[in-house]
Amino acid sequence: MKILVINGVNLNMLGIREPALYGKKDYKSLVAEIKAHAKEIGVKVTCVQSNYEGEIVEYIQRALARYDGIVINPGAYTHTSVAILDALKAVQIPTVEVHLTDVDAREEYRKVSYVSEYAFLRVTGKGFLGYLEALDALKEKVAK
Ligand code: DQA
Repeated sequence: MKILVINGVNLNMLGIREPALYGKKDYKSLVAEIKAHAKEIGVKVTCVQSNYEGEIVEYIQRALARYDGIVINPGAYTHTSVAILDALKAVQIPTVEVHLTDVDAREEYRKVSYVSEYAFLRVTGKGFLGYLEALDALKEKVAK
């Protein structure tokens, strides 16, 4: 089983950006924790990050027939990108949406999520742990 983990805009700035909200650990640590958990539960994982909407769309398109599941935190594109939603709908790969923070408890404009329309699960406000839970959920879903 192969899972693609996509982190979107500004998530490469983890550890530097608003640590009170997003924590002090950097993107490299996030990838290390995801990989360690994937190994533990016996799934293969690839982690990518991009600050470009079109590149995120391409990662999703290229996942077709290559990955069994997608974990995605589009960052701010969550609240704006119909293109990312359309790409997910096109490839029809089971997807979990993750946010480090509790987006529904923040500004009004963060309450809209286009990706939610497609994702079968949304994990918010759990920090790095959210990504690990997403892997568990995908493993369970795809194994069925
Ligand atoms: C985020 C929440 C978004 O609103 C924000 O723009 C991000 C990160 C999160 O992980 O909590 O960049 O997706």
